[in-house]
Amino acid sequence: GTTLLYPRKAIGKVKGMPVNQAIPFSYPDTSSPCYAIRMGNAVPGGVGPGGDIVAFSSMCTHMGCPVTYDGGTRTFKCGCHYSIFDPENSGQMVCGQATEDLPKIQLEYNSKIDSITAVGVDGLIYGRQFNIL
Ligand code: FES
Repeated sequence: GTTLLYPRKAIGKVKGMPVNQAIPFSYPDTSSPCYAIRMGNAVPGGVGPGGDIVAFSSMCTHMGCPVTYDGGTRTFKCGCHYSIFDPENSGQMVCGQATEDLPKIQLEYNSKIDSITAVGVDGLIYGRQFNIL
């Protein structure tokens, strides 16, 4: 079979990256919106000097509505049918109509240039048969 490779996409530098704020980007293509978050404490799968940076698809796994980040509860919330996802636990679905966790964007950190790069996706982006179109 054919193996399609994920692109590498620079997300930004850690220096100056705000804590507990969702930073929008798209990956692996422009029709797949995502959020990166610097949690401020080390989390599973977190990258960067603090092991605290994670990123997820921002399309709810239930029916594809955009999730929004709530810094107060430190969760992603879907306004359509109230699913909640936990970025500090690999995007795990906490409650709601969704049955799948939020797809997690694989990140790499280059300490020499203080740069975060997206390199892959764990889980299937909503509405797709394959993450790479
Ligand atoms: Fe998100 Fe239904 S689309 S809970």
